[in-house]
Amino acid sequence: MALYTWAARPILFALDAERAHELTLAALCRPAIVGALRAVPKPARDSRLQQTLLGLDFAHPVGLAAGLDKHGAAVPAWTALGFSFVEVGTVTPRPQPGNPRPRLFRLPADRAIINRFGFNSVGGAEVARNLAAIVPASIRVGVNLGKNKQTPNDEAADDYCRALEMVHAYAEYIVINVSSPNTAGLRDLQDSRTLRTLVERVVTRAKELTTRRRIPVLVKVAPDMSPQDLLASADAAIEGGASGIVATNTTVGRDGLTSGSRAAAESGGLSGRPLRPLAAETCRQLYAHLRGQVPIIGVGGIFTADDAYERIRAGASLVQLYTALIYEGPGVVARIVRGLAERLERDRFSHMREAIGTNVR
Ligand SMILES: Cc1cc2nc3c(=O)[nH]c(=O)nc-3n(C[C@H](O)[C@H](O)[C@H](O)COP(=O)(O)O)c2cc1C
Repeated sequence: MALYTWAARPILFALDAERAHELTLAALCRPAIVGALRAVPKPARDSRLQQTLLGLDFAHPVGLAAGLDKHGAAVPAWTALGFSFVEVGTVTPRPQPGNPRPRLFRLPADRAIINRFGFNSVGGAEVARNLAAIVPASIRVGVNLGKNKQTPNDEAADDYCRALEMVHAYAEYIVINVSSPNTAGLRDLQDSRTLRTLVERVVTRAKELTTRRRIPVLVKVAPDMSPQDLLASADAAIEGGASGIVATNTTVGRDGLTSGSRAAAESGGLSGRPLRPLAAETCRQLYAHLRGQVPIIGVGGIFTADDAYERIRAGASLVQLYTALIYEGPGVVARIVRGLAERLERDRFSHMREAIGTNVR
């Protein structure tokens, strides 16, 4: 049994979930721990998994989803764990505390998490300072932006632009997060007319801020929309200038949960295993509609190489995970990357781009 599931996880899972999260992150910010993590098996370089997307080079398709490193404090650790990219955030322009605790709940029998953090953020200025301190590395760094709780939706675009201004120098891509279920009214920004204007504003600001390089702007969507609304949002995002879609955020649904779990009654966004079918279906619907117009980053319930491969065949060009890292530990990245290469071999694909969307009619 891997050291993490045998030794570290029982200790962490004996603690309150947010306390365990804080202790782990604090450890991951320490150079000595990052040094020790270099011993974690890394995915071997494999040209079949390398891609240039959004104008960026990705060594392989597996990245860390938003929400684990909200403040951009532990990027060297994610590099040491073998992720090819990390999405820092969600970052709000002004610091805010988020919702009262408790706001993070484990559902071990379901290999799931419910969270209602509500964008606890140190604010864009501090995140920019954290990212400025990082030595450039092989990992690609995206920044996921949100609005402050107090900002009304009709002023939301100002918040996203303000946060962008603060972090743009350190962001290789930007994600507009309009899909967290834990900020009241945020998901209303997915409405196609509102979203198009919002994306246009952010894309225009990104162009003004960076004349020498282009910062791709993506939109992260919820898994809880009707197919019509989902596709209308995606079209609006692309018309507004978005370079990609991140699908999906957590769900407010509770389908597929083991009955009897006390945490299941908590409000918030559900991630992990039970989200997988919904997130995969959302990805499939988006790919069937967009047909490669822009890349999709597939996220939600990916724990294994089969999950990642299925998401790629459902149309994802890259995948991300969060909850699997909590349950499986650091070895999960190398296992998935190795397994992806084996599946390409088995199915006689000479490069992963040939596999993208092959399960979508
Ligand atoms: C504790 C927690 C906090 C999260 N915070 C954010 C966030 O701040 N911004 C965001 O876009 N997504 C956030 N997410 C959602 C993840 O990025 C991801 O979309 C979702 O968890 C599904 O992936 P998973 O099943 O691999 O965890 C969070 C998820 C978890 C579990």
